[in-house]
Amino acid sequence: MDKPISLADLTSLCKRRGFIFQSSEIYGGINGFWDYGPLGTELKRNIREAWWYDMVSGHNAIRKLPDAPSPFGMVGLDTSIITHPQVWKVSGHFDLFQDLMVDCRETKHRYRYDQLRGRWASYGDRTVFITVAPDVEDEAAYALRRALKLFNLRPAQADEVKWTGDFNALNEIDLPREVTISSLGNSAAPDFSSVLAPEASATGTLTEPREFNLMFQTFVGPLVSDESTAFLRPETAQGIFLNFRNVVDSSRVQVPFGIAQIGRSFRNEITPRQFIFRSREFEQMEIEFFCEPSTSEAWYRHWRDRRLRWFTDLGIKSDRLRLREHAPSELSHYSRGTADIEFAYPFLPPGEFGELEGVAHRGDFDLRSHMEGKLDPKSAPLTVELGSAGKPKFAGSGKNLAYFDQRSGQRYIPHVIEPSAGVDRALLAFLCDALEFDEAPDESGAMKQRTVLRLHPRLAPVKAAVLPLVKKDGMPEVAKDLYDALLTRFPVQYDEKDAIGRRYRRNDEIGTPVCITIDSQTLQDQTVTFRNRDDLKQWRVRLDDCVAELEKRIAAKPKALQREVAAPVS
Ligand code: GAP
Repeated sequence: MDKPISLADLTSLCKRRGFIFQSSEIYGGINGFWDYGPLGTELKRNIREAWWYDMVSGHNAIRKLPDAPSPFGMVGLDTSIITHPQVWKVSGHFDLFQDLMVDCRETKHRYRYDQLRGRWASYGDRTVFITVAPDVEDEAAYALRRALKLFNLRPAQADEVKWTGDFNALNEIDLPREVTISSLGNSAAPDFSSVLAPEASATGTLTEPREFNLMFQTFVGPLVSDESTAFLRPETAQGIFLNFRNVVDSSRVQVPFGIAQIGRSFRNEITPRQFIFRSREFEQMEIEFFCEPSTSEAWYRHWRDRRLRWFTDLGIKSDRLRLREHAPSELSHYSRGTADIEFAYPFLPPGEFGELEGVAHRGDFDLRSHMEGKLDPKSAPLTVELGSAGKPKFAGSGKNLAYFDQRSGQRYIPHVIEPSAGVDRALLAFLCDALEFDEAPDESGAMKQRTVLRLHPRLAPVKAAVLPLVKKDGMPEVAKDLYDALLTRFPVQYDEKDAIGRRYRRNDEIGTPVCITIDSQTLQDQTVTFRNRDDLKQWRVRLDDCVAELEKRIAAKPKALQREVAAPVS
């Protein structure tokens, strides 16, 4: 019987089979940082390579896509993690890239204001908002345990606690406001005296919400001072905008075109959580696509739909994915429109989705900011923010980043469409979607539960396992020759330990699409058994044809490109 997977199932598999480990584990770990093990490293590399091929190198072999307004080219960049600090002032990150957090004075824990969830509970004449620690899977059970403790009740008295409303984020509930002078300026801070913080022994221990900038700071050079302060990039995008002029001047690109970059980004998240979903060091795969302003809406739709299709082409089930257009109030300071590609991660309540990738219409915000100085994101059209002396508050580079379009003879600042994906979040979605528990016959033929990772063959870390049926009768020798022949073309594994059924299961669990078994028949007729991970079908293949057969099974051309090659190229 198939059973639904939980985050605990996934984290345990990842640790057991060497996909992902807690960073600095032997020192007790460090929150929000993760290390990728041997299989995780391969899986991550395959995700990056699939993205790069489908979006950049493979794309350039086609250029004209059926649903794109015109042909276009893509180039790549690899920019530095630390940039001139002015970049982050001008981009808006220095002032606006912050979350509101609340601290618990008793437990010393810090929470994101919008992520601390809870529910109203009453007993006698007391009514308290009971909050739940982030990452608790069963919110109701946790809240009940906390309520019983607070109201000094026994488990048998659980029915005496009255609950009102559903679970809500702390920032969404109606609380009285205390007018105090606070870091929020003129606005009044909410009164938390009836709020019970996670693990606190009494109510009223939370501080007022305070702004917390998510950028990691460092110092460049030997002096620790304001002048030497720099930041680890919180997104790879800015490195692309900084090099727009360099790319236009040094490459043969013409608008419309895209620049792609894959690299590490850093955010000092207040509550890193849900495994690798929200971490403090992660990788992004970002495209900044530059187009003529009047065409930008059509390009926005193209990228939004194309990026969603990329995930389904790589095997993610479409009912676990959705596109969600942001409401105007949700838009980032730079965005004229954003659609999130969301995935139904198993740690979310049923029916809820979490962000996997954002596709944003950034207008000319970034190029214009880097040209003119920090723009006021609240004004439309955008104007330069002026300081007290009437001068730009944060100066831009002063460089002319306008583009001269030779075809139309016009000069303009291109608009930008930005598909921005997290490598780690994509990896998590691919793993969650692929992991299944089903039943398969064991070596005695009895049906037993099997853990299987149905990863797309392009992503699978190991493409095939070569298995001698037994460790004698010349089978290991034939198997090793085949293994050597395959290894020059594909990442394959050789395994002769344990009964064949256990070896099949070991490979199913790490997502190996094909197992190749050398048995007594091999010694007679030079054929081997191919076994398919997903439907368990078996068929025989001549030893000489194994490379071609494996190629056919696992290295088929990406679906997206098959479809696009079939379309007429203009
Ligand atoms: N340049 C735009 C930008 O960075 P974002 O929505 O903040 O936009 C893009 O980030 C993607 O990066 C997200 O959709 C997510 O996949 C990934 N991401 C962002 N913060 C992350 C974090 N703390 N941990 C893991 N991935 C993260």
